[in-house]
Amino acid sequence: MKIDFANLQLQYQAYKKEIDNNIHNVLNKSNYILGEEVQILEQELQKFTGAKHAITCSSGTDALLLALMAIDIQPGDEVITTPFTWISTGEMIALLKATPVFVDIEPDTFNIDANLIENAITKKTKAIMPVSLYGQPSDMDAIQIIADKYNLQVIIDGAQSFGSTFNGITDSNLGDISTTSFFPSKPLGCFGDGGAVFTNNEEYANKIKLLRVHGQNKRYYHKFIGIGGRLDTLQAAILLAKLINFKKELKNRQKVADQYTDKLSNIFQTPVIKKNRTSVWAQYTLRVNDRDNFQLKLKEEGIPTSVFYPIPLHRQECFNYLNYKQDNFPVSNEASKEVLSIPINPFLTHEEIDYIILKVQEICNN
Ligand SMILES: Cc1ncc(COP(=O)(O)O)c(C=O)c1O
Repeated sequence: MKIDFANLQLQYQAYKKEIDNNIHNVLNKSNYILGEEVQILEQELQKFTGAKHAITCSSGTDALLLALMAIDIQPGDEVITTPFTWISTGEMIALLKATPVFVDIEPDTFNIDANLIENAITKKTKAIMPVSLYGQPSDMDAIQIIADKYNLQVIIDGAQSFGSTFNGITDSNLGDISTTSFFPSKPLGCFGDGGAVFTNNEEYANKIKLLRVHGQNKRYYHKFIGIGGRLDTLQAAILLAKLINFKKELKNRQKVADQYTDKLSNIFQTPVIKKNRTSVWAQYTLRVNDRDNFQLKLKEEGIPTSVFYPIPLHRQECFNYLNYKQDNFPVSNEASKEVLSIPINPFLTHEEIDYIILKVQEICNN
């Protein structure tokens, strides 16, 4: 058997009619930049998340940049975040010449450990940026209490978690600003790059709308230094077709996750989803001791796997100037050696799920 990690081709075939229709509508109108599909998508995203404002943009990375610019992060400001994440999280803080301050993660959820945040706060701290890794929100109650106590802003990097919930509220409707990515392999993905910023704060929303078009408030009048950060109308049209099916897809992802956990939790540390949260299962991640060997054997059986992430941010060359030591953040370091994500997507068949479980068990028992 040959398993596909993301099954994007099957997904396209399943919604081909709606997607092709939506694309052709855009082609027929040639409204490629901020066309009406972008506005319709933003309204649909607002409805879906409950957030007052949804502002689409060019990527999950640019969504983070826009969020940080909206809260006016300045050179020398400090933003507390996790080192166990994709580079964009720390990179966008550093791009604004602010300082990413890393705080270690919880060993079970892989998200920032809220108990360690207070120790990292200084006079320069402006914001906390938790990442909802693999699709599950961080401990937003604990984080919000700290943010309120020290008057800090909270920006959620929800690139992997669009549709997840904390105490029944979507991840996009928490914190001061929340972001997501529509990268093709994300739970809700487009056919290229895309992202969105969510907020209930009118002032931030208005600023982000300007920032994504070079700070322009009237043609050729630029109120702020901004970026060219719009979502293409074509991508919005594709997302509109996919959004209709998204809830159903999330249910399917959950079913796959349940089967994996049921059959694999006696041999591995399987993902821990806290009681007050839901995950959208961007990844299903096991902790494996002999990871390289395990990964190779699964590959030989036609099962692709991925490692998110093999090198935490404090050990990345680009962050040498922060002067962290290799052995700082032991929980992140340990996780980076052990995590292995196995295929999870809404289009896996029963036979494929059974096959993956069987092979994982066999390799583990040999
Ligand atoms: C945690 C996290 N933050 C930010 C991003 C950036 O999103 P994009 O690839 O859309 O720029 C990603 C994408 O992989 C991510 O996983």
